[in-house]
Amino acid sequence: MNESPVVLLTGAGGGMGRAIAARFATGGWRVSATDLDDGLLSALSHEVTLAATTPADLRHPAACHGVFAETMARCGRLDALVNAAGVWREGPVETFSEADFDLLMDVNLKAAFFMCAATIPALRATRGCIVNLSSDAGRQGNIGAAAYCASKGALTNFTRALALDLAPDGVRVNTVSPADTDTPMLDFQAERYGGGDPAGYKAALLAKYPQGKAARFVRPEEVAEVVYFLCQPAAAAITGADYAIDFGYSAGR
Ligand SMILES: NC(=O)c1ccc[n+]([C@@H]2O[C@H](COP(=O)([O-])OP(=O)(O)OC[C@H]3O[C@@H](n4cnc5c(N)ncnc54)[C@H](O)[C@@H]3O)[C@@H](O)[C@H]2O)c1
Repeated sequence: MNESPVVLLTGAGGGMGRAIAARFATGGWRVSATDLDDGLLSALSHEVTLAATTPADLRHPAACHGVFAETMARCGRLDALVNAAGVWREGPVETFSEADFDLLMDVNLKAAFFMCAATIPALRATRGCIVNLSSDAGRQGNIGAAAYCASKGALTNFTRALALDLAPDGVRVNTVSPADTDTPMLDFQAERYGGGDPAGYKAALLAKYPQGKAARFVRPEEVAEVVYFLCQPAAAAITGADYAIDFGYSAGR
């Protein structure tokens, strides 16, 4: 029987998901990968050895339970859940559509919530851990992104509360909060909201960092390293924490 640890990773086909999958695989973990986009999962399977690939729309709790069931059927145990699925929408509150609001809440908050719900019994059995991908937008308000900030702020505080609930069982729960990271989500933001000038949109993002002309975007591999660390025995004392990976952007002005 294969006793190597198992991570269930959502958003596995995305920019951070791919880097996280690769980091865990390199560390000897089996990776159960899920994403909305079957094509992205297929591409990932050519880069990283995957123990399971389960396309699913995680806005629906039944789908969360289905992905968990598939993971257990294929792998037989679960040691870590990493919620990296997410979406970006921005715009002023007074014109923000209900559809975009619901999408942000359903993917960024509800899907993570019900992935946790589905996996808690199995994580209790292994005294495993959960890492939720939040954002600097979960630590502070960002201009023009109130709904996204609401979804990530809720995710960060949900994580703290769950950490307290699961502490007696030895299950640790943390958030990782990157600032602008070089992934397809950032490209999407720049294309959709850049007013025809995606490079200008990105330059405006970089201008807000304290590094000045040396500012750059976070690399997905830098996020993956922190996520991986939080799932190691060396992180046994860390739960209910929020790890900023943001060049000091959320440290103050
Ligand atoms: N890129 C950034 O600048 C940045 C910064 C801070 C936080 N984050 C957060 O980090 C996480 C990873 O982001 P990323 O940059 O890798 O984004 P990405 O767009 O590259 O990947 C996100 C993945 O989530 C999947 N997804 C979307 N809706 C889904 C659904 N309904 N069901 C299942 N999967 C779904 C997408 O198919 C995609 O593969 C997200 O939660 C995001 O909000 C991103």
